[in-house]
This record gives sequence, structure tokens and C-alpha cells, in this order.
Amino acid sequence: MEERKGFGSNFGFLMAAIGSAVGLGNIWGFPFKMGISGGFTFLVIYLVLAALCGFIVMVGELALGRKTGKGAVAAYQVLSKKFKWVGWLGIVSAFLIMSFYCALGGYCIKYVVLNFGNLFHAGFGSNGLDGNGIFGALMTNQVESVIYGLIFVVITLLIVMGGVGGGIEKFCTIGMPALFFMLIVVIIRAVTLPGAVEGLKFMFVPGYAVTAGIVEKAPSFMNVLSTAGGQMFFSLSLGMGAMITYGSYLDKKQNLEKNAIIIVIADTMIALMAGLAVLPAAFALGGEGASMAGPKLLFVTLQNVFDNMGGVGPIFGIIFYLLVVLAAVSSSISLLEVIVTHFVDKSESEGKGDQRKKYSLIASVLVAFLCALVCVDGLGSNGIWVPFQSLVGVRGFNDCWLDFFDMISEGVLMPLGALLMCLMIGWEIGPKVVKDEIEGPEGHKMTAYGFFNVCVKVVTPLLMLLILWGQIQSFFF
Ligand code: TRP
Repeated sequence: MEERKGFGSNFGFLMAAIGSAVGLGNIWGFPFKMGISGGFTFLVIYLVLAALCGFIVMVGELALGRKTGKGAVAAYQVLSKKFKWVGWLGIVSAFLIMSFYCALGGYCIKYVVLNFGNLFHAGFGSNGLDGNGIFGALMTNQVESVIYGLIFVVITLLIVMGGVGGGIEKFCTIGMPALFFMLIVVIIRAVTLPGAVEGLKFMFVPGYAVTAGIVEKAPSFMNVLSTAGGQMFFSLSLGMGAMITYGSYLDKKQNLEKNAIIIVIADTMIALMAGLAVLPAAFALGGEGASMAGPKLLFVTLQNVFDNMGGVGPIFGIIFYLLVVLAAVSSSISLLEVIVTHFVDKSESEGKGDQRKKYSLIASVLVAFLCALVCVDGLGSNGIWVPFQSLVGVRGFNDCWLDFFDMISEGVLMPLGALLMCLMIGWEIGPKVVKDEIEGPEGHKMTAYGFFNVCVKVVTPLLMLLILWGQIQSFFF
């Protein structure tokens, strides 16, 4: 059998893993959720959860992947009797997340094109519409949104076809530093706008969202906990085997514990930086009654910001939406890779050779169908039937396919996957397996072993249960 080709360097691995973590979740999820859920208080809870759950699950996933040298499904099958089916949850989640991720990524491509249009006063620019008009038109133009969604799927496919070292690593080694640089440019412009300080207050001052009348009442502690927990999982790409997959391609010499810390810190830092880029501008130039919530922040309010910036507006618009496209592509390739790795490994082990191109294509066709469904639905604009319509109006669920797929994956499958992984490591195979993998042949010392041991057995599973309960409660009760 040929050797499984992986990441060429630790830096390349880090860029890919950070690329997976940094995505739409950081750019519009984090700043907005932090603002409405208590500002600085939310941040503190988020950081505590990132240490007690995020870091633990990150180390666990990376170690399981590297130890087995297999994707999510096979890793569980090799290691466990009781939990051998858990990897499949990851494959299902990957399809579900990709369905809406590619749709949103496609919208971002559309906004890059649109801002180019504005730069040259071309017909494919805003054409006199404001953010609301532009977004509304896109949502009801089903053909156009499907086309952009499919363009995004194809970009993801082409990179994944290139393999882990040749496609994913190359893309992220250039894309992530570029993203970082563009983010700094946008932050500098955003925080120097007059009125920017309101956005900073919304983001950091506890209770400011209530004082400013953006939300009616302060959320309960349970509420903040489950919002922060869900956000952290999604943002760090945990609980569905993405980090198992990437870990399986990492060289045995590299230090997993250090890498896990770097990934968690980098992801959190970029989420905070995204807040600095997005919220001050939204408050300063977003216009009366600007929406800070969900897709509207990105596709309505921020487009208004660029339109209100004068001549340089389209240039900042192009930089900003391109940055978001980069962040989204580097995440969606990790989702597709979870699926592709599984099937490629399987066909290798059956002696059928490396069929990466074939499986990437098959998986992408399926994703394309799901993505097209989300696009045709247009966030519920087009009156398409959606399951669970009786839940409409309940916090966190709107009448659209995007929210339905999000509810199942982010709301249920991912925290569940992480919980089961902790139970397997803590109580079936034992945390020492992780320690041995981390210390490896190079003799790295796992400094946090005591902490890991207590967390993976007790603290993390309990917190996961709490988060899961909070999420389910917010959906169903
Ligand atoms: N982390 C990404 C974000 O913040 C989303 C994502 C990419 C993801 N890959 C994942 C989430 C794997 C869970 C699992 O937008």
C-alpha cells in the first residue's frame, strides 16, 4: 500500500487547522452573540469553556486521528467497541453543515462581484439598491443564488481534489496569512470611523445591548452558557471529526498539545478581531435600525456600511467579502475532507487504490443538491416547505432550511459527538492513550495531563450535557 500523504510541515498543518476553525462562525456568529449575550461576561464564559471543553476535545480529536492514522469513522472503529459508530455522526454533520455553509459562501462571492461592479459603476453593482434591497433580490432570485452556491462548491471540490498536502495545505498557507492581513486593514478603517465606539460598547460592556434597546432583557445564565458553548464548538470545528481527520495527516514528530493550544488561541483571537472589524462599522455607518443579527449583519448592514463610505467603499467591500470567502473556503474544505478521507482510506484498505478524485466528486454532487435546496429556499423567502414548522418563532429557529440543518448539526450532533468522544477516552480506552500519543517518539512531555485527565472524564462531559440540554431546550421548549 502506498504511504498516506499528509501535511508537509507543521506550519502547513496549523494554517489548515486554523483555517478550518476560522470561518463564518467567527465573523458574524461570535461578535453578534457576544454583544447580545452579555458582552464581557460572555467573553469570560467563552474563554473558560474554551479551556475546559475546547482545548480538551481539540487535543483528544487530534490525538485519536494521529494515533490511528485514519479518518473519523475508522478511528472510532479501530479504538472502541461501544463507540464504533460515532464517526458516522461526523459524516452526517459534515453534509449538513456544508449544505448551508456553501450557500452562505456563495452569497459572499456574489458580494465580492457586486462590490467590483460598484467600483466600476457597472450594471452588476448595487444599481441603486440598499443592503436590504440587494439581499432581498438575491434571496428571491433562486437561479442566481444556486449558481453562486455551486461556484463555492466547485472551489471547495477543486482544492480537496488536490489532496491534503497539495491542495488544502497550499491553499491555507497562502490564504490564512492573506486573510489576517486583510482583517487588519478592515479593522483600522472600522475603528477610526466616527461613532465606532458604540460598536465597541455593544461588544464589550455587559448589559449594553439591553441599555441600547437592542434586546429586551438580559439572557439567563443558562442561556449564555449554551450560546457560548455552541458557538465555541462550531467555531473550533469540534465534535464531528474534522480535527481527527486533520490529525491523521500530521507527522508523528509534531507536538499535538502545543498545536491544540495555538489553534484555540488563534481562533478566539480572530473572532475578537472580526468583532473589531464588523461591529464598530455596523454601528457607525449601518444606518437607522441596522440589523446586527445573523446573515443580515453580513449581507445587509455591512453592505450599507460600504455604500456609505464614499469612493473607497467598494474597495473595502471587495477586501472584506474576499476575506470572508477565504475564511469560508478554508473551513468548507475541512468539512469535505472529513467525508473524502473516510472513503479514500476505505478504498485504499480494500486494495482499490487512491480514489480521491472520484469520491471528492461524488460527495460534492450530494453537497451541491443540499446547497441548492438551501439556496432555492432563500432563507425562507420563497415559501418552500420546511420540516418542524411548528417550531417557528421559537428562539433560534426560523422557518427555513438553513436553520433546520443548523439545528440538527450544530445544535445536536456536534455536542453529542464531543460528549461521546470524551466518554470513550475517559471511560473506555483511558486518557493514557492520548498521553502516549502526544508524548510520542520525540519524548514531548504532556504538561496538562492531570488537567486533561480530570476534564475528559468528568468536567467536559458534564459541561457538554449542560450545553446540549440548553440547546435542546432552546429549540423545543
Ligand atoms: N469552524 C467553522 C466556523 O467557525 C465552521 C466549521 C468548519 C466547522 N469545519 C467545521 C464546524 C467542522 C464544525 C466542524 O465557521
